[in-house]
Amino acid sequence: MLRITEVGRSTLRSTPKKYGSFHLLTRNLSASDESRRSIHTVGTIGQGLMGHGITQIAASSPHISSVIAYDPSGQAALEAGKSRILKSLDKMMQREKITSDDAEGVLGKIVFTDDIAALGNIEGPDIVIEAIIEDLGIKQKLYGELDGICPPTTIFASNTSSLSVESMSTAVSDSRKENFVGLHFFNPVQLMKLVEVIRAPASGDAAVDAVMQFCEDVGRKAVQCKDTPGFVVNRLLVPAVVQAMEMLDREDVLGGVPDIDACMQLGAGHPMGPFHLADYIGLDTTKFILDGWIESYPDNPSFTMPACLVKKVKSGHLGRKSGQGFYHWDGDKRGDPVKG
Ligand code: 3HC
Repeated sequence: MLRITEVGRSTLRSTPKKYGSFHLLTRNLSASDESRRSIHTVGTIGQGLMGHGITQIAASSPHISSVIAYDPSGQAALEAGKSRILKSLDKMMQREKITSDDAEGVLGKIVFTDDIAALGNIEGPDIVIEAIIEDLGIKQKLYGELDGICPPTTIFASNTSSLSVESMSTAVSDSRKENFVGLHFFNPVQLMKLVEVIRAPASGDAAVDAVMQFCEDVGRKAVQCKDTPGFVVNRLLVPAVVQAMEMLDREDVLGGVPDIDACMQLGAGHPMGPFHLADYIGLDTTKFILDGWIESYPDNPSFTMPACLVKKVKSGHLGRKSGQGFYHWDGDKRGDPVKG
């Protein structure tokens, strides 16, 4: 087992310099000034379920030299993110997909920090990928702060699953808007090979091209999407999960949760049935996505709220992360369906 030590300490750079001095002392480039941009240094914000995976795959790429892994929730959140990365690397070592030297190499590129100023380091980062709570107000506040910290060339990319990228970008200066995109990864990030690249109306070609290249550099297939609710995957997946939950509410299927899941696994070849998947994603996350859609698009018949989902979230049964949802969970291991 890899130990949690002073991960990334060797790559910790000197005191970060704020954007102001960077701007005066070096270049004053905007995205459109550069015909070819490439991403070598990455900042990640939020080291939770998605963020730790993004940190890990970025640090695993030979094209990326360093990752500043920041979490606004402080040390406990950073420790949890580090542990998840160590567990994942350990799993890969046990399966002989990587060597211990590879794992040390990945860890050596990551600087974990709870100091947002680290993202204003003079050497970059070329991109900041945000994966914090899906709350527009909280995200806008963060982006407003980052706008004053990061160099003007840093691309801001949100891993939002359902919020509008354009509405997030209202928090930054006009000159930054061309450097603002969505970059939506899938759970578990270490295994899922797709990234949706979301182009808001103001996103510039240079920034979009750079993140497309970044996706390739971290071994992902990138698909460009417009800034529409749920983009492609969630727009298809979440309504399917809702339909399954509404079947449960109506008691359409005698065998309930496990039988509906079996139908989609064995009849449609999905790796997980809809209840398994909803537990895996998090029932609060699923409800949050729906709440936002229902509020913004009240006339869209695909966006409805199943009663069983509301009940689960109200009672704190959020799926894998809380140990119980539609199934019992022991850490990452799914158990039996919850009765009743
Ligand atoms: N890090 C590294 N390796 C890992 C790992 C991790 N975190 N988790 C699992 N692995 C490895 C395992 O060790 C195993 O290796 P092996 O093949 O050498 O034995 C391999 O990956 C497969 O793992 P498992 O055997 O545990 O699991 P499965 O074969 O059942 O696959 C799965 C797991 C890929 C998660 C598959 O069940 C799946 O594709 N499920 C659907 C997931 C999905 O739909 N995700 C999208 C959700 S929507 C979303 O994220 C959007 C958001 O906005 C809500």
